[in-house]
Amino acid sequence: MRKVGIGLVGVGAMGRVHAENVALKIPQAKLVAVADSFVEPARKVASNLDVGTVYSDFSGLIDDKNVEAIIMAVPPYLKKDMIVKAARAGKHVFVEKPMTLSSRDADEIIRETDQAGIKIQVGYQRRSDHSFRRAERAIREGKIGKILMMSSHTRDPPGLSPNYYLDFAKSGGIMADTCSHDFDVIRWLSGTEVSKVYADGEILVYHKELDPSGIPDHVVVTLSLKGGGMAHIDSCAYAVYGYDVQAEVIGMKGAAFVGIGERYATTILDESGHHGEYPMSYAERFAQAYHDEVEDFARCIIENKTPRVTARDGRAAIEIGFAADESMKRKAPVTISG
Ligand SMILES: NC(=O)c1ccc[n+]([C@@H]2O[C@H](COP(=O)([O-])OP(=O)(O)OC[C@H]3O[C@@H](n4cnc5c(N)ncnc54)[C@H](O)[C@@H]3O)[C@@H](O)[C@H]2O)c1
Repeated sequence: MRKVGIGLVGVGAMGRVHAENVALKIPQAKLVAVADSFVEPARKVASNLDVGTVYSDFSGLIDDKNVEAIIMAVPPYLKKDMIVKAARAGKHVFVEKPMTLSSRDADEIIRETDQAGIKIQVGYQRRSDHSFRRAERAIREGKIGKILMMSSHTRDPPGLSPNYYLDFAKSGGIMADTCSHDFDVIRWLSGTEVSKVYADGEILVYHKELDPSGIPDHVVVTLSLKGGGMAHIDSCAYAVYGYDVQAEVIGMKGAAFVGIGERYATTILDESGHHGEYPMSYAERFAQAYHDEVEDFARCIIENKTPRVTARDGRAAIEIGFAADESMKRKAPVTISG
């Protein structure tokens, strides 16, 4: 079987998930090199996964003839330049969300990757999750009917985010980093674009002493859809019970609910009630999706197909996020032109 030679940049929390999947679980791909500006963790990952080549700089992957595609799991502010360099070197790109941090950069990414004719996929893994895909299928098969109301929710367990997150210019804050997943879900499941947002946010837990960034840790956004219907999303940074992602779609003929996703199918009931166990991390909740999205990316390269989540999707999700940030600032609804 043909194997796509993959180089990975960024061996942090997310990069390690992708590294393990590519090295051990995806037959269509081979992890040939890893790069990280902190070279020690990169060496450790490489040695654990039997990867021969380690670079302390991204450019090593660009010059490496064995690297056919690059997975990017670095802080968002670095991605645009890396994508452009990869495209110009003819290397395919799988980039973790958010793809970049401005519409202008997103346009440059689209232009450069189109021109180079490379594949680019953005890591909105909910589109590869079996539960979300089941909901999507029901919608496409007409079982839900015309969509009236939708929602998407992301609740993170307690714990501070990576250091770079606290710098808005590097992470894009809660709207680009976290809620862009929810914006992508709303676009994908509704099959339409978002025309207007109204957002509000508060710092309820991570006050100044814990997090000096001033980025809200709780937000609610209402969204108007071009194709009709209403939607809302929220994000909570302090869910003591676990990592909780849900979505709801209510239509004229039926409804689809994607629930929190219990760890086990078994339900335990006793005199004190029902006991469920929930995933405590995104890596656990979306293990299947993180695997499938990269396997799909490798297949797209081998079979010359268009990836499931394109650079245009990556742009649309962050554009909604920027409008939501603007709405929070202005305390007023913001219209999305694109
Ligand atoms: N899809 C998801 O569910 C999901 C979950 C978590 C994170 N992410 C995304 O993945 C990306 C990385 O997040 P993370 O949590 O893994 O962050 P992280 O801080 O744990 O890891 C980032 C890594 O990038 C490395 N790095 C920084 N600058 C570099 C440079 N110039 N060259 C090479 N390496 C460099 C760091 O040393 C670090 O190892 C972010 O965009 C984040 O939003 C996605």
